[in-house]
Amino acid sequence: MLLKNGRLVDPSQGIDDIRDILIVDGKIAAIATRIDISESNNEALKVIDAQGLIIAPGFIDIHTHLREPGYEYKETIRTGTEAAVAGGFSAVACMANTQPVNDNAGITAFVKRQALTANLARVYPIAAITVGLKGAQLTDFSDLMRAGAVAFSDDGAPLTSSVMMRYALEYASSLGATIISHCEDLSLVGNGVANEGFTATDLGLVGMPTIAEDLMVAREIMLSEYLQARVHIAHVSSARAVRLIREAKERGVPVSAEATPHHFTLTEAALVGYDTNCKVNPPLRSSVDVMEVRRGLSDGTIDCIASDHAPHSANEKDVEFDYAAFGMVGLETVLPLALQLVGEGVLTLSQLVERMSCNPANLLGLPGGTLKVGVDADVTLFDTQRVWQVVKENLISKSKNTPFVGYQMRGKAVMTIVGGKIKFQEGTAISPF
Ligand code: DOR
Repeated sequence: MLLKNGRLVDPSQGIDDIRDILIVDGKIAAIATRIDISESNNEALKVIDAQGLIIAPGFIDIHTHLREPGYEYKETIRTGTEAAVAGGFSAVACMANTQPVNDNAGITAFVKRQALTANLARVYPIAAITVGLKGAQLTDFSDLMRAGAVAFSDDGAPLTSSVMMRYALEYASSLGATIISHCEDLSLVGNGVANEGFTATDLGLVGMPTIAEDLMVAREIMLSEYLQARVHIAHVSSARAVRLIREAKERGVPVSAEATPHHFTLTEAALVGYDTNCKVNPPLRSSVDVMEVRRGLSDGTIDCIASDHAPHSANEKDVEFDYAAFGMVGLETVLPLALQLVGEGVLTLSQLVERMSCNPANLLGLPGGTLKVGVDADVTLFDTQRVWQVVKENLISKSKNTPFVGYQMRGKAVMTIVGGKIKFQEGTAISPF
């Protein structure tokens, strides 16, 4: 396959320029200003005109909920990875809060097998830190890693016990693995459903204070510093949490962080009208928090943009706000929302690619994040100018719980290539079968 005339943005090689890229046997074979191979001399050659498009190392989402096994009515590994490639992701790392929980090698192997059958995006399971996400007994990290787990997290059910987190960090660091922490002090959150503050009070909703997030971020940073063990903070949403991470990084603490598009795009004001699609955990915060998350993304305090794609069925969302499930789908809207940051001067295009591809790969030690000659050809082609509207029926994810329905977006993935094979092409139904 020959990608011609695209603008290659590959921060791993310091390239931001027009380049041709040749893919042979699923690998990047050559990159040059001009590669001329005639199609007539080579019947097997597929030439793709990428003029006007950005070519980047495939995006990697380090925080996705694929829901299988157990919640197939929300999403399956197949529908989730279909949504992923449509959003420009060549790989996703999926969370362990399935049913049964991914707390043993059998489930991890099952997830890998289902992903191979779906044959779309690469899937990297994140296994549970504790058995059943109950916070009481560590899982067998080493066995889980042999089965394919790439990191450990009790996302959605944060570890309340500091000593368990200590043991988890020690165990993971002895294996070179990363703990991903969903930071929430449950005693402070109580039965909160929205950011604590004027908006929640005005709407009659119970608040979730930022201090609940900040305290746990502070705990993870201090444990990480004390133990010199790597910790990754999931979906950072509060201004103080960003500042804590910034200060910790300046001291050399091995901490990293991610932010979701909803936390850098929407404020708690979106809750007026009680759209349950805006009920997420951590909650949408104040404009001060959103500004600080953006600043964190800009100065590198926050390493990655992650979707926290959290599919829920209509039954779980079309209920009173208090009863609705937390979460929104995101895989198909990350790119245009992240491109808004480029449009507003928060990120350069190259930094966007870093936050969506290079850093996720480096943090979890995954293949990808680069288009250096010789690597597997996982490539995303996107159009920064394409204007499109989010239409519920057109969303590929099985669940449609996003507040962005009806929004006009600018920027779209037009092709996703995984291992040299086209897994998504705009306007075409690509079937791997
Ligand atoms: O909004 C959320 N939904 N936050 C989480 O941490 C979990 C997720 C889910 O699993 O639905």
